[in-house]
Amino acid sequence: MSLLSVKDLHTSFFTDAGEVRAVNGVSFELERGKVLGIVGESGSGKSVTAYSIMQILAGTGRIVSGSIQFDGQELVGAGEKVMKDIRGNRISIIFQDPMTSLNPTYTIGQQLMEAILLHTDRNRQQAWDRAVEMLRLVNVNEPEKRMKQYPFEFSGGMRQRVMIAMALACEPDILIADEPTTALDVTIQAGILELMKDIQKEIGMAIIMITHDLGVVAQLCDEVIVMYAGGICEQGTADEIFYNPCHEYTKGLLRSIPTADDNGEKLEPISGTPIDLLNMPKGCPFAPRCDNAMKICLREKCERMQINDDHAAACWMNVRKAVKGE
Ligand SMILES: Nc1ncnc2c1ncn2[C@@H]1O[C@H](COP(=O)(O)OP(=O)(O)O)[C@@H](O)[C@H]1O
Ligand SMILES: [Mg+2]
Repeated sequence: MSLLSVKDLHTSFFTDAGEVRAVNGVSFELERGKVLGIVGESGSGKSVTAYSIMQILAGTGRIVSGSIQFDGQELVGAGEKVMKDIRGNRISIIFQDPMTSLNPTYTIGQQLMEAILLHTDRNRQQAWDRAVEMLRLVNVNEPEKRMKQYPFEFSGGMRQRVMIAMALACEPDILIADEPTTALDVTIQAGILELMKDIQKEIGMAIIMITHDLGVVAQLCDEVIVMYAGGICEQGTADEIFYNPCHEYTKGLLRSIPTADDNGEKLEPISGTPIDLLNMPKGCPFAPRCDNAMKICLREKCERMQINDDHAAACWMNVRKAVKGE
């Protein structure tokens, strides 16, 4: 049995303008100790998928249908009492902006200790020791001294390390990292990702790494989900997604990754703008932006098709290839 099993999840925001279908039938499995990447441009539904799992949807957001099973327990409709027990305890989340996630009026130590006291049965001395240990684990120098400092005394990269320490303090089964390095500069980004990989190996928890950057996924993930317009267009092992992409959107994302030998050459961003979720097209949601779109792509949505045991995609190009025997 998978640690986390999401089936046909639909989450919408009910706005004055209408129902915004932010997540449209997302399904995936996460095994214990594995790293799953969720990739896609801004607005593709990555965060809403994560917030649905945690049930921390803002305002008018609601899970409309689907199932989220965690360690054998159904979370959809489970109620706030169950979720309170799971949040920060068995599933932790790190947000994109560490400044807004830390309270500026408490020291780093107070905040770390609070998280530990809340989620474990350690006493204050043990919580202090654990907090120091966690800071050391995330490579914060002089952790005892740092415990007494306030968030403003930390750089952006350091604050994000503290957030990781905080998320890990309760030893969750799953860590959801929602663009944890997007606000940081590239060299610090690489360091944080290395760190997460090391800790993941050491503690053996599962990670859901959310990012708009396929490069981040390459460093870290076993499995990858590529999202577009609230749905999954392609899903597979990291190797399959990188070396055998089977959806035109994924191919576009791959062309837009900067590589070491680019020499400042122009990358190719995918042209056009993401679709309006209030007015979903009839066919493939990516078709209006796809250079290789065929007539059928505009007319009819492509069902998910198994490429091999480790790989599935929903792109008419695969059907055409199969029919033509290419
Ligand atoms: N609070 C909200 N109210 C209305 N619509 C929202 C809200 N939050 C997100 N959305 C919609 O859901 C879509 C997916 O958002 P999100 O999951 O945050 O994207 P991303 O992939 O960038 O994390 C957005 O395009 C937006 O239209
Ligand atoms: Mg997001």
